[in-house]
Amino acid sequence: MQNSLLSRRALFGLAGATLIAAEGKRNMIVRSSRAEDLEMPLDGFLESYLTPVERFFVRSHHYTPDVKAAEWKLQVDGKVSSTLALTLDELKKMPRVELVSVLECAGNGRGLYEPSMPGLQWTYGSVGNARWAGVRLADVLKRAGLQAGAVEVLFDGADVPVGMQPEFIRCIPFAKAMDPNTILAYEMNGAPLTRDHGFPLRVVAPGWAGDCWVKWLTRIEVRDKEFDGFFMKTGYRHPGKAVAPGTAVDPAQMKPVTSLQIKSVIASHADGVRAGLAATKIRGAAWSHESPVTAVEISTDGGRRWAPARLGPETHRFGWKQFTFDWTPKEEAYYTILARARNAAGETQPLVQEWNPSGYGHNVVHAVRLHVAASAPAPKSAQAAQAVDTPAVYKQTCLACHGEEGISQQRLSRAQWEREVEKMQRWGARVTPENKETLVDYLHKRFPYRAR
Ligand code: HEC
Repeated sequence: MQNSLLSRRALFGLAGATLIAAEGKRNMIVRSSRAEDLEMPLDGFLESYLTPVERFFVRSHHYTPDVKAAEWKLQVDGKVSSTLALTLDELKKMPRVELVSVLECAGNGRGLYEPSMPGLQWTYGSVGNARWAGVRLADVLKRAGLQAGAVEVLFDGADVPVGMQPEFIRCIPFAKAMDPNTILAYEMNGAPLTRDHGFPLRVVAPGWAGDCWVKWLTRIEVRDKEFDGFFMKTGYRHPGKAVAPGTAVDPAQMKPVTSLQIKSVIASHADGVRAGLAATKIRGAAWSHESPVTAVEISTDGGRRWAPARLGPETHRFGWKQFTFDWTPKEEAYYTILARARNAAGETQPLVQEWNPSGYGHNVVHAVRLHVAASAPAPKSAQAAQAVDTPAVYKQTCLACHGEEGISQQRLSRAQWEREVEKMQRWGARVTPENKETLVDYLHKRFPYRAR
């Protein structure tokens, strides 16, 4: 997606985020304009059961490739008896499967962690619910003829890295690849995939985080040993347990992110808003991993008492559940509304968010504070931004590969900014020793750490 397609409509108070009307998009928060990362604002959870494609979040590690269907082929190689090169027509002649599934970014909610960490500052909406159609991955692998010893399946797409960034390649374990619900999709909500969602083919790994759902798929490799690329061995890893906030954990001590977490989001009321002393509906959506959501409970008194919400009629195993709770506040007060989902496996959401270094799996019980009053309280005055002069070297050095949104939404300490600048240096940013000081100084004054 080119910058020219983005017309910035309005600046919102979302830590430097903008809302856009990009081509084929409606009302999205820009986390990065190039590479393209777009978040769905809260109202998207309520629009319809299936998230419209123009409201569906977009996550791209590299720039969006323009794949021509006529020139495209899917190669299948590795531990198979015959290497395949399938055209889109050949794939479409194979048995078609359809399923509804939530797709959520592993980092959804990263922007809510305290202390903050680098990475796209998603809040609630890097998630959506769609109907996917395509072929079973297992059918494609069987067509190539599986050999003994397969441990994982690797996916590579047509996107190419920016600068010296490592290539975005992901693998899933062989058992997940052979699961009949793991598909290679060429359609989303009844239409061919759009460019930003991976035209012509993407992985759909229901119940697992979006990093496994590789887009613009061009090659599948069946492997008999673990792949050691950056996005498997360094990126997308979780300690598998809570660690003290702010701890740096060696990637070798962490495991790849796989399953989603059980989670719910209240979408009808934004935190801190005013509501009248009248009947209202608390609405939102809840989802889980391979075990579907069976109940959502609401508390309107900060967790003292809970009552069940009504769930929507849809029963898709991997789809989300929309919920509604009718409520009439008894008196003028400042209410804390909570939502908590439960799944068939009996799991529920934590009351306090535990921390991990890359900010994955945010799923704390969602709390929304409502100021119920007959008349509007005075609006909070906006915090004045700290005035800091922008050095010329910043624009030249830091805005060469991507837009500013991904930088301005970070809240990092000086040491974290230094590590970020060094990472960019390794990925191709031209930073001299003198400029490095200027840049780190500027970045941490302008976009300072958020502790609590
Ligand atoms: C040579 C290209 C290039 C230059 C120049 C560059 N970056 Fe990046 N930057 C990237 C890539 C690639 C990503 C990751 C995109 C993705 O994976 O979504 C990125 C992502 C980021 C992020 C998001 C958090 C993260 O770590 O993924 C921040 C913050 C950032 N860059 C800051 C900077 C700063 C500050 C500068 C100037 C010192 C800079 N960038 C210069 C290529 C570059």
